[in-house]
Amino acid sequence: MNKYVVKDIQVGSGFSRGLYLDKWFILTTSELPFSQELRATLLEWRCREVSSIGSPKAIAQEPVEAITDTGKMKEIEDFFVNTEEYMKDIFMQVAKNGQLDYKTVADKVQSIYPLIQDPYLLLNFQKTYHVDVDYSAFHAVTSMVISIIIGLSLKLPENRLIELGVAALFHEIGMIKLVSQSYFETKKLTLEERKALYVHPVVGYNMLKSFNFPLPVCLAALEHHERENGKGYPQKLAADKISLYAKIIGIACSYDAIMSHRPYKQGEDSNANLITLFQNKDKGYNSIVVKALLLALSPYPVGLYVLLSNGKKARVVDVQPENLSFPVVQVLGEEANIQTSENGITITRILNRSEVEPA
Ligand SMILES: [Fe+2]
Repeated sequence: MNKYVVKDIQVGSGFSRGLYLDKWFILTTSELPFSQELRATLLEWRCREVSSIGSPKAIAQEPVEAITDTGKMKEIEDFFVNTEEYMKDIFMQVAKNGQLDYKTVADKVQSIYPLIQDPYLLLNFQKTYHVDVDYSAFHAVTSMVISIIIGLSLKLPENRLIELGVAALFHEIGMIKLVSQSYFETKKLTLEERKALYVHPVVGYNMLKSFNFPLPVCLAALEHHERENGKGYPQKLAADKISLYAKIIGIACSYDAIMSHRPYKQGEDSNANLITLFQNKDKGYNSIVVKALLLALSPYPVGLYVLLSNGKKARVVDVQPENLSFPVVQVLGEEANIQTSENGITITRILNRSEVEPA
């Protein structure tokens, strides 16, 4: 047996054979890492040495999912921060030169592509993302992310997702010219500010037209405050008269306002409140677009492979907006569907594709 000094063994490392306290007392097998708890216990027992007939070895300590998520969250954070900085510069450039190039911003929107395969992570990051100073750039970025996720959920093709993203980035550009900041604050607006609020879609439309942006992008800025029930502004358009991008951006803005933190309020944590709000007919939101957002919020979207609490591997086949954490799954190789539930079969973890498909 080889002797190893406890305080010299690195936490998380493993041994090629079992690690023993003495001849009979095994501390850890070759599959398990040397944990912080084990180290603390041994030192508490005043046990300075342990034995093994094996030798130290590298061990895969963490599940692949966890590593992927950590890296992805960093990428998402970088994307939000970089795009917000980019938008601050763009807004300054517009104010100064009165010019904007569509192709340049479309390329910027395209940089979200590597991240949109994880809409749940993106939306969760958006909920915790704080804004301190520049609401205009912050709101532009969060609206763009949420709008693209809704568009993806509606299965829009890539060229339309890019247009939608640009439209969301610039839907409030009219406000920049009128009254900056006040739109996002809680204080009572002055008469002048209320007038500005009312005309900002028209001002924005004219600005984007002058930059030669595509018409659907300009219309999104013009119509993003219109509502299905005709109670929006500035034209009081209803239902089919409102363009799809405008419907999506209107809902993205409301979602952002509800869920994100602001200096004067905490964001909502519960999707239940969100569902209740969107189901309120007076709000006049399009139900198909709302459902697309709610489905994108599911931690278990359709098509995902999961491991169930009964040990079987399954694929998510349906998600109910009221019950996002408990989707309907189909066990691989079986035909019947199972409704997962809090007190029944639950999802233990998400599976990698390599775990369900032959190499
Ligand atoms: Fe607006």
